[in-house]
Amino acid sequence: MKKVKVKSHATVANLVCGFDILGMALNDPYDLMEVKLLERPEVIIHNKDGFGLPEEPEKNVAGVVFLSVMGKMNNGIGFEVEMHKQIKPGSGLGSSAASAAGAAAAADHLLGNIFPKEDLVRFAMNGEKLASGVKHADNITPCIYGGVSLIRSIFPLDIISLPAPDLFVTVIHPQIEVKTSDARQILKKQVLLKDAIRQWGNIAGLVTGFLKNDLDLIGRSLEDVLIEPVRSILIPGFDEVKAKCKEAGVLGGGISGSGPSVFMLSRDRHTASEAEKAMKDVYDRIGIGYHTYITTINKTGVEITGE
Ligand code: HSE
Repeated sequence: MKKVKVKSHATVANLVCGFDILGMALNDPYDLMEVKLLERPEVIIHNKDGFGLPEEPEKNVAGVVFLSVMGKMNNGIGFEVEMHKQIKPGSGLGSSAASAAGAAAAADHLLGNIFPKEDLVRFAMNGEKLASGVKHADNITPCIYGGVSLIRSIFPLDIISLPAPDLFVTVIHPQIEVKTSDARQILKKQVLLKDAIRQWGNIAGLVTGFLKNDLDLIGRSLEDVLIEPVRSILIPGFDEVKAKCKEAGVLGGGISGSGPSVFMLSRDRHTASEAEKAMKDVYDRIGIGYHTYITTINKTGVEITGE
């Protein structure tokens, strides 16, 4: 029986100013899954992680992706998967994207690597739609490709991989739940032209910063005048975390995806640790539990780790 083991990484969507169009992959945390190819058109899901996610294929992010691959193949195959997730659902660290991208990559490997990466993104977006209500690819794309991704358009799909700098990433995941669908619902549908000008200046600055490995420009461009002012209301302590991390010397940062996790980029591990201390201090004082990571930008994308 053909089987495969897959490792799929956490991702930071939006990268502060690039709502729905920028994202990057992290080395930690990551999900593992083991997938078998079945010779009957069925999807069987075993969750081994205690997150209590649904096991019915139509209600499960990975399940929906397997079903979409089966629909495309239309040749009587199916998949059985054991999910060992470590990225907590609702963390803002691309948990659903890791399930979706892992499923797409596993299915493709079992079928003999027949799909280009763009097609894996298309399959995986079906899982993201189930999780958040809309198709967006700013978690899925870096999860599949690794590094930093620009998604210029999803219809038609237009993906640009950007050079990823050797920066350290500090993440704090306060133990509160923010649903992506809720965090999208509260956004304003219209923006002022003056804010749009500032935002696209920042996006252009950030992309140029990645292309030129200009860390100061990256730092200056990590500013979001459209989404963060609305969403940060859902994250207690956000403004203080940001201010204290800036004092600690980080380049910049903000909400990871739709939150509640917050991330900061630093030039060196010492600054990343100082940022972690500052983040912990804020949440210790507020009295909210948390989980922190100090990691780096993942450059491999989703990995096949065994057969
Ligand atoms: N770009 C999406 C959002 C990512 O911010 O709603 C969600 O993980």
